[in-house]
Amino acid sequence: MDIADGPSRALVDRLTPVCEQAPIYAPCDLTDLESLAATFAGFERALGGIDILVNNAANDDRHTCEEVTPAYWDNRINVNLRHQFFAVRAVIPAMQRAGRGAIVNLGSISWHLALPHLVVYQTAKAAIEGMTRALARDLGMHNIRVNTIVPGAVKTPRQDALWHSEGETQRILDSQCLKERVMPSDIAAMALFLASDDARMCTAHSYFVDAGWR
Ligand SMILES: NC(=O)c1ccc[n+]([C@@H]2O[C@H](COP(=O)([O-])OP(=O)(O)OC[C@H]3O[C@@H](n4cnc5c(N)ncnc54)[C@H](O)[C@@H]3O)[C@@H](O)[C@H]2O)c1
Repeated sequence: MDIADGPSRALVDRLTPVCEQAPIYAPCDLTDLESLAATFAGFERALGGIDILVNNAANDDRHTCEEVTPAYWDNRINVNLRHQFFAVRAVIPAMQRAGRGAIVNLGSISWHLALPHLVVYQTAKAAIEGMTRALARDLGMHNIRVNTIVPGAVKTPRQDALWHSEGETQRILDSQCLKERVMPSDIAAMALFLASDDARMCTAHSYFVDAGWR
């Protein structure tokens, strides 16, 4: 589910011919909790259950402290944190019935590095790591695992367009132990591992995919 309708439909078209199970896309603004609940109910009906949840949606628009109004604060928390919890709530019954489940929450390296002009985003992303541990404790008795992936500076179209001048890219590479850009497929590989049975004893933790960015 996403609000980016065009790119989401294009992705479904690209993946359908090469996937055993054709992907399903549903337009949904995850800040609207009624829409979120209805969309998860639709997925559960269509798929006959939900085994894996990846909480990926976020928005890292920059903001100074002076620009943060109460309404903007609420909006940033809703787009970066609140939906992750309510998505988990939506899938718990199906995972309990199945006797298993894997939940992967996307955090961020940003607050670990204290990057500038992202105070509400970083507050939300820090909370995700705490929420992951609390959920892992509460859901572990149902054999539901909950983990956080902490991406570094991932080369995506949005990051390339918005923030990564050549100078900044070089500065990040200089700060990474590994001297190559982190790619979306590097994050996907970690998500696949954490969702798989190979990770059956992994829960309540944060897994960094940041090329050693310090
Ligand atoms: N790219 C990076 O360098 C980086 C670094 C650290 C953390 N992350 C995290 O990794 C995850 C993926 O990042 P990305 O770079 O692919 O981000 P992105 O901005 O490219 O993609 C985020 C997706 O969330 C969707 N989205 C935003 N608001 C939504 C809403 N209200 N309802 C439904 N969908 C909504 C967007 O349309 C988009 O498809 C995010 O959680 C992000 O915070 C990314």
